[in-house]
Amino acid sequence: MIHPLAFVDASVTVGEGTVIRQFASVTGGTVLGRDCKVSPFAMLHGSTYGDRVVIGAGVACGPGFLVGSDVHICPQVLLSNDAWPFASKEGFDYGRLQSGDGYAVIIDDGAFIGAGAKIMPGVRVGRGAGIAANAVANRNVPAGMLLRRCGALSPVPVDWAERRMRFARKEAGNTV
Ligand SMILES: CC(C)(COP(=O)(O)OP(=O)(O)OC[C@H]1O[C@@H](n2cnc3c(N)ncnc32)[C@H](O)[C@@H]1OP(=O)(O)O)[C@@H](O)C(=O)NCCC(=O)NCCS
Repeated sequence: MIHPLAFVDASVTVGEGTVIRQFASVTGGTVLGRDCKVSPFAMLHGSTYGDRVVIGAGVACGPGFLVGSDVHICPQVLLSNDAWPFASKEGFDYGRLQSGDGYAVIIDDGAFIGAGAKIMPGVRVGRGAGIAANAVANRNVPAGMLLRRCGALSPVPVDWAERRMRFARKEAGNTV
C-alpha cells in the first residue's frame, strides 16, 4: 500500500505487502522487498532493501547501500556513502553507487540500527548485530555483536527481549 501523499517514482520496485506511509519519498531506483514498512518523512533514493525491513521516520538513505531482510532502521538514521562530501563531485562516482556496482554500507539480515545512528562509508553490519542509538559506526560490526555509543563492542545479550520494555513504567507524573 502506498499512501497517496507519499512520493514514489516510476523507477522504484516495491514488493508485495510493502507499506509506504504519507510524506515518504522513495525514488532513484530504490528496490524494496516484500512486507517492508517505510515511515513518514523517510527519504530513500536508490539502494536495495530485503523483505520485512522497517524504515523509521526521517531516515535518510541515498544510493550505495545493500540492506538485508528483517532489518530495523530506527528513526533519523543516516547511512553515508561519501567520505569527503564536498559540493564538488570530483572523484565521486554517483552512477556507480546508483547502479549497485559497489556498496558503501552493507547491513546483513536481522540487524538493527538504533535511532539517530550514523553509519560511515565502508561499514558492514553483520547478521543479527545492533548499533546503539546515536552511535557513530566507523568500523564493521561482526554478526551478533552490539556497537555501543562509546564505540565498544559487546555481544547482543541473549535476554534482549526481556530488556526491551523495562522503560514502560506504570507510574504517572514526574516524581524525580
Ligand atoms: C545499545 C542498547 C541496545 C543497549 O541496551 P542495554 O544493554 O539494555 O542498555 P544498558 O543497560 O547497557 O545501558 C547502560 C547505561 O547506558 C545508557 N545507554 C545505553 N545505550 C545508550 C545510548 N545509545 N545512548 C545513551 N545512553 C545509553 C543507559 O541509559 C544506561 O544508563 P544508566 O546506567 O545510567 O541507567 C540501547 O541502549 C540502545 O541504544 N537501543 C536503541 C534504542 C533505539 O534506538 N530505539 C528506537 C526505537 S524506534
